[in-house]
Formats: sequence, structure tokens, C-alpha cells
Amino acid sequence: ENAQLKDIISHAKEYGFVYPSSEIYDGLQAVYDYGAYGVELKNNLKRLWWETMTRVQDNIVGIDAAIFMHPTTWKASGHVDSFNDPMIDNKDSKKRYRADVLIEEHAATFERAGDIEKANSLTGALARMLEAEDLAGVRDLIINEDIKCPISGTSNWTDVRQFNLMFSTQVGSVAEDASTIYLRPETAQGIFVNFLNVQKTARMKVPFGIAQIGKAFRNEIVARQFIFRMREFEQMEMQFFVRPGTELDWYKQWAEMRMKWHLALGTPEDKLRKHDHEKLAHYANAAMDIEYEFPFGFKEVEGIHSRTDFDLKSHQEFSKKKQQYFDPEVNQNYIPYVIETSIGADRLFLLTLCNAYTEEKTEEKSRTYLKLHPAIAPVKAAILPITKKDGLPEKGKEIVELLKYDFNIIYEEAASIGKRYTRQDLIGTPFCIAVDHQTLEDNTVTIRHRDTTEQERVPIAELHGRIAEATSF
Ligand code: GAP
Repeated sequence: ENAQLKDIISHAKEYGFVYPSSEIYDGLQAVYDYGAYGVELKNNLKRLWWETMTRVQDNIVGIDAAIFMHPTTWKASGHVDSFNDPMIDNKDSKKRYRADVLIEEHAATFERAGDIEKANSLTGALARMLEAEDLAGVRDLIINEDIKCPISGTSNWTDVRQFNLMFSTQVGSVAEDASTIYLRPETAQGIFVNFLNVQKTARMKVPFGIAQIGKAFRNEIVARQFIFRMREFEQMEMQFFVRPGTELDWYKQWAEMRMKWHLALGTPEDKLRKHDHEKLAHYANAAMDIEYEFPFGFKEVEGIHSRTDFDLKSHQEFSKKKQQYFDPEVNQNYIPYVIETSIGADRLFLLTLCNAYTEEKTEEKSRTYLKLHPAIAPVKAAILPITKKDGLPEKGKEIVELLKYDFNIIYEEAASIGKRYTRQDLIGTPFCIAVDHQTLEDNTVTIRHRDTTEQERVPIAELHGRIAEATSF
């Protein structure tokens, strides 16, 4: 892991954002817990996404479907048969790898050395073999290229096998009655199977959308890069149901709207890029990713897919229940086409941390702070009396009372004011409000701004409005 990512991981842990899961038992790979400030930041990101989808748009409503679904769902969606990654084991280290990732990383070494032709020929060969499900060919490529296990340093490999990424468990209390069910690998299917329920009960007319935030689970073979690829994670997905033939227009519109959303959150334009999929999944007629430049390179944050009528049609076949919509405008029954926007809440969280993490060095001093958009900052303001006596704590607590019902506020009276400012910088609090003796005389306080460290004198009566304005999105 590179140095910048390492700094971000240790910052996240030290200042209460993200810890390894069950750390006292040495953690559980690719599973993480969010701490006091992490949960606030994540909730703020989810809330902003939710409001953008369901409140700003008048034709999108939300749902909250269960994680467990009827097992046939995953037959119909294609996940039972084809939600696989090719894996390979090294016989000496007993370590498991994704065969495709080993080859891609090998190709990347040629790319870095300037041999683009060789890199492309390797990734091209890999793509053709995966397409043809030629797993023996993938193994031959690994052997011929003499790709070695990073742990043992040997090329003593097993065969390449397909590995299904879905976690399964049993429902039913006695073994004979038990049946296998899955932990959902995407939230989208909960939306598809509820399409008609929602359309009818919320009285929606095509075009309309259904949004959902919830946990998804994937038994990722290679789980690395902190919360970028987790085995338990959260997705924020929206399926937009449209009249067949109009899907590519909607696809373009959604791609643009989603890009604007990322920019509005403060992600710089040069750190984002669109990546069109050259190779489309069997159900898609257009697909792209929004990528962000993480410390480990440009990687997918969000997917926008034109999924045609694949899912609804397949659920109609498997369930034998019509999944059609009657469109009064054209006087026709049809299965709607679907544009999907899908983003991982944890991946957006990582983007946000990477983007906010700022180390400033001048000749006199250095400072680390999180330059978060105030709308998503975990704590909006810290109320800091400059001494613990003369009635300043009481005055400070009065200010807390004024603000705490609308904003997440911290009150702190221990340590020097400088130390307290530093601590708020580290968790990204946009405003530090110092209460001093003058406050007792004229009801004004000093606001210290996180990004500039500039200070200004403001009447207490203006605080609520100032914070509300800065934290609106
Ligand atoms: N319904 C479409 C779908 O699930 P996907 O590209 O497999 O598409 C969508 O996933 C998004 O979910 C990704 O762009 C990413 O942000 C997030 N995601 C997927 N797998 C993840 C994982 N293992 N850990 C964290 N986030 C993940």
C-alpha cells in the first residue's frame, strides 16, 4: 500500500473514523467498523445521496428491501450462474489470488516500463479467454509469463477455477427443512422484484425511479486497499424505469447528473473521469463508470448502466408474474427499460477522505486537516470557552443549547485553545467557536475557520444562520 493511503488509514483509525472489524481478535479481512466521526460522515453522505434522489427529484421514491431474498431471485438475475471471479492458488504459500488480477498487475509492470504493446497484448489475451471461459488458457498465460506468487516467490500454481462471490447460509430450523439462501450481492434486485408494488402503491408513472441504500455482501477473493473492496459494504442504488427506446437519452442524462453531484460535493474535476465500458455485460446496451484518482490510481466509484429490460423480463419468466406497465400516454403495455446508478457508500467515503486529507507545511509550522464540505463534516461546530472559569463554560453551554438540536456540536473545555483547534482540524470541523470574556459583555464570539484559520467576531444571534448556510448543500 502506498504511503499516502497508509497515512489516510492511520488517520482514519486514530481519529475515530474507521477501525478494522473485531480488532481485538486481530481483525477480519475486508471488514471494517465506523467510529464516532466515521458514522456521522457516512450518514451525511448517505443522507445527501438520498435527498438528491428522492427529494429533489419528484419522480423517484425510496424503498428498504430485506437482505435475504427468495433464492430464485439470484437464478433470475444471473448471479448463481455467472457472478464469478477466476481464482488460482499458489501451492507453496497456500495463498489464493484472482487469476485475472495477477495477469493485469503483470501487464501493468510492462505499461509502467513503457512497453504498452506487450501490456495490451496481455490484457487483450486475458479478455478473450475470460469471454470464452477458457480457464486453462488463463493458467497457461500465468505459467508462460512466469508470474510468481508475491509471498512464496514460486510459480507453482493450481488450476484456475471459477469462484462464486455470493455468501450463502441456511434458513429453517432443522437440517431437513433447511434451504440455501444468499446474502444479497447487490441491492438492485430488491428494487426489481418490488417494481410493480411500488409503481402501484406510490402511483408512479414511467419515467420514474426507485432508490435504495443498504448492505450488500461479496466474498471478494482479493480484498485490499482498505475500504475500497470490502466483503460487507453498503450500496446506494437507483433504478430508473423508462419507456423502451428512450433509455439511451436517460442514460446520458443520468451520467451527467451524477458527475455534477460529485463536483458539487467538492471533488475536483481533474480527479474524476468517465470510463466507458468497451465490453458490455449481456444485459446492458451502454455502461460507464465514474472513476476517482485514489492514491492507488483511477478506480471505479460509481457505475451507470443501461440494463435494458433484462432483469424485469427474467423475473417475469422465473416468477410467471407479469412485470408489465400500462403506459396511458402511448396506450401500450410494456416491460420498462432500466437505467441504473450504483455507488458504494464506503467507496464514496474513501474518496471523501482521500480528497479531504490535507497536509500543509509552511516554514513555521505544519498542519493536517480534513477539508470536508461543511454539509458532510461529522461535527459542524466546536464550542470552546477559552478558560474553565469566570462563567465562560456556562456561557458556552448556552450556545450549545442554541445549536445542538439542528447541528452536531462538540463542547470542549480541556487543554489549550490551540490544541483544541488542532483536534477539530483533524476531524474536519469547519467552525471553532471561542467563548471569551468579551462574550459576557457583548454576546459576540470568535469564529475560527478551518481552511484558512482566519478568525472573525460574530454575534451569538448570527451563529445558527451562519452554520445553516454553510452546511446546506
Ligand atoms: N447493481 C449494479 C452493481 O452492483 P457493481 O459495479 O458491481 O454494480 C456498484 O457495484 C458499486 O458498488 C461500485 O461502483 C462500488 O462503488 C460498490 N462496490 C462494489 N463492490 C464493492 C466492494 N467489494 N466493496 C466496496 N464497494 C463495492
